[in-house]
Amino acid sequence: MRGVTMAFIACCHALRPALRARRRSAATLLRGAATISDAPPRLKVKAIVEADKPEALIGQTVTIKGWARTVRAQKALGFVEVNDGSSFGGLQVVFEGDLCSQLKGVGTGCAVSIEGEVVKGGGKQPIELKATSFELVGGCASDYPLQKKRHSLEFLRSIAHLRPRTNTLAAASRIRSTLAQAVHAFFAEEDFNYVHSPIITTSDAEGAGEMFRVTSLEGKELASSATTQEFDDDFFARSAYLTVSGQLSGEAYACALGDVYTFGPTFRAENSQTARHLAEFWMIEPEIAFADAGGAMDNAEAMMKFVIKKALTDCRKDLEFCDQFYGKKELINRLTSISGEEPFLRLSYTDAVAVLQTEIAKDPAKWQFPDVEFGTDLATEHERWLAEEHAGNKCVFVYDYPRSIKSFYMRDNDDGKTVAAFDLLAPGVGELVGGSQREEGLDRLTAKMTEFGLDPEDYWWYLDLRKYGSVPHAGYGLGFDRLVCYVAAIENIRDSIPFPRYPGSAQF
Ligand code: 4AD
Ligand code: MG
Repeated sequence: MRGVTMAFIACCHALRPALRARRRSAATLLRGAATISDAPPRLKVKAIVEADKPEALIGQTVTIKGWARTVRAQKALGFVEVNDGSSFGGLQVVFEGDLCSQLKGVGTGCAVSIEGEVVKGGGKQPIELKATSFELVGGCASDYPLQKKRHSLEFLRSIAHLRPRTNTLAAASRIRSTLAQAVHAFFAEEDFNYVHSPIITTSDAEGAGEMFRVTSLEGKELASSATTQEFDDDFFARSAYLTVSGQLSGEAYACALGDVYTFGPTFRAENSQTARHLAEFWMIEPEIAFADAGGAMDNAEAMMKFVIKKALTDCRKDLEFCDQFYGKKELINRLTSISGEEPFLRLSYTDAVAVLQTEIAKDPAKWQFPDVEFGTDLATEHERWLAEEHAGNKCVFVYDYPRSIKSFYMRDNDDGKTVAAFDLLAPGVGELVGGSQREEGLDRLTAKMTEFGLDPEDYWWYLDLRKYGSVPHAGYGLGFDRLVCYVAAIENIRDSIPFPRYPGSAQF
């Protein structure tokens, strides 16, 4: 019987709070009241401030729990604005009479639990809460760094553990969460399988050598292994790294399950201090069997439109805030237009170079990298100009890049100069997606690896995919943190992710 009871309780804990609250009385009967908290279940502030008809809630008694953003208390009248993270806006709570004395010592940052009656609002808000009981759950020391004023984003990075309590980071976090869930929803609707590619790997998926080593060796052992490049005594009995991309695993699974995607953290040990690079970032990597680069572009475009639409409906208040403070009041319009019917512009790399050359010739001094010709790896300023000016502040695909500047696995086009690769460029961000059709021919891929200075033996299992039932296939990687920047008008990628990792920074 005890086992059954424990299983039931464990199950209760996994249920969502509202459901859990309803089941609580049953659990109490089973366990006895003493071990279950008698506290009333909390109602999320969102359910009140974002209710379709807030006035319909008037007269109800509810309990909210959250953090005080502002506290103003006089002798017989007090106001506390409570934010519990569930919505952009907080709820104003009014304290009257004796209850006001309980606000002594309560200030910004305190964790509070308040029971009250929903009443008509006195100020701008249609409704507010009239407190009937108050509990200080957690006091807040007087050196709390987030007093009610505007802090710079640079400063907030130095208190990354507290910054989600600010409007900007809370909005970015909710938008990020909505986008991530929308990505999964999109691929579920498209009948893709979600594949968990490994984080520790022994293959360099991009062949660019920008990997973090994973080792359990220390001191002398590590030094001598590093010198000889022999890691036989290491944990995995070979050199191991943090993955730069889940693509190679994705290809193996696409060549069995058809349509798959990965969505996980990826790592690059490049010494980039730019506003677009992280050492640890999240990537979405779909891989589609029996598809070419055009099919992968279609999928990327549909996915972008789907997730942006979802953010526009589910994160309206957050996006309006981002628009006002960071988006030059153009953000909502831009997102609405990009997620509409009009297809993204598609431009060949050769044509992109031509339009850039014409533009640069008008005033070369305006450009940091004015020399653009076939074979140039486009810089962010070029990518942004293509999206912001040439495409009219929209996303644009550039395809058929020179083979010399792209990865070994990309399929050569018949012209002998280009590969079936594409990038999606976005306003304000530059490259958001990189993808391609993969080389499916065993001999051609082996030859290209050798040409690119890679040892085909290191990729034996990847080559096997070309040996056993090889099919044309294509895929892409979307930098999720850059997507968050694009959607929320965040300028620096370090503000799109909770705890950013970049050279010299992994404190939190
Ligand atoms: O263009 P990349 O390097 O492509 C790949 O890794 C392929 N294996 C993807 C695939 O075909 N499955 O990276 C893909 C995207 C970029 O377009 C960019 O948005 C993002 O990943 N990205 C980064 N984001 C943040 N910080 C970095 N250091 C990034 N490097 C790439
Ligand atoms: Mg790329």
